Amino acid sequence: MNYIKAFAPATVANVACGFDIFGFAIQEPGDTVEIRRRDEPGIVIKNITGDEGRLPRAAEKNAVTVVMLHLLKHLGITDFGCEVTLHKNMPLGSGMGSSAASAVAGVVAMNELLGNPLTREELLRFAMEGERIASGSAHADNVGPSLLGGFVVIRSYTPLDIFSIPVPEDLYCTLVHPDIEINTKDARYILRNEVSLKNTIAQMGNVAGLVAGLMKSDYDLISRSMVDVIIEPVRSILIPEFNEVKKAAIDNGALGCSISGAGPSMFALSKGMDNARKAGEAMKQTFANAGIDSTMHLSGINQGGAIVLERN
Ligand code: HSE
Repeated sequence: MNYIKAFAPATVANVACGFDIFGFAIQEPGDTVEIRRRDEPGIVIKNITGDEGRLPRAAEKNAVTVVMLHLLKHLGITDFGCEVTLHKNMPLGSGMGSSAASAVAGVVAMNELLGNPLTREELLRFAMEGERIASGSAHADNVGPSLLGGFVVIRSYTPLDIFSIPVPEDLYCTLVHPDIEINTKDARYILRNEVSLKNTIAQMGNVAGLVAGLMKSDYDLISRSMVDVIIEPVRSILIPEFNEVKKAAIDNGALGCSISGAGPSMFALSKGMDNARKAGEAMKQTFANAGIDSTMHLSGINQGGAIVLERN
């Protein structure tokens, strides 16, 4: 094989109470990576579209190629040559798992081109290296679901212990991206390192409640558990109209609403597509009332994760 094209979806990380431990994939948007073999050894970035020239073009600095370099090193392959094209279909610093989608599409494409020596689960730690380059932290709550699909729980980072849980079929996500940018590094830097026992207890209750609610298709329990007492109060200050947008989503039928990843995107979960749309329109309108443009995505939970689109 000489050519692979792979797609990896956007993701919602944290899912309210599960900072760094919960994430799920949506259907669209997502990033696409094309790799073509070349005769000379080494990985070169041929082109990046959709980033307005902002991402690094050097292979050892870009998340999409860093993951490929790590994979080749792990496999002991030294003479491999290819050129890479990345199509970014979502904004940088959006809270939609933009860098994760690039890294996952890259590692899936490279693994396919090499004849699939590693399983999807084994690719995870390589994709996490892309996150380290992009945000300074190798968290897995975006790369995990983008790679594996579904609703993912990271029980432990050392050692890595990650699994998927079932979600109700009628669960829909509304993702609204206001036209502002938040750097994930900054959004992590402002977090406090200490958490009170009171907040820890509240957060653990909600984490347990959300997992149980999703697995039992108990929408009331999902709704009661979509509460984040640790991260959201700090980060929401970075998002204009946060409280108003959240209230608009819940008043219009959403089960709950919070920050998607590090923000500024906000997500809501709803029972059924109609509620998801109604909540999303209200969220968009609330941003618009404050003079902020936004883009809305509606989606069920993407159970498949990254896919290979073309090979030849
Ligand atoms: N869990 C991460 C964070 C996701 O909230 O910083 C960011 O992509």
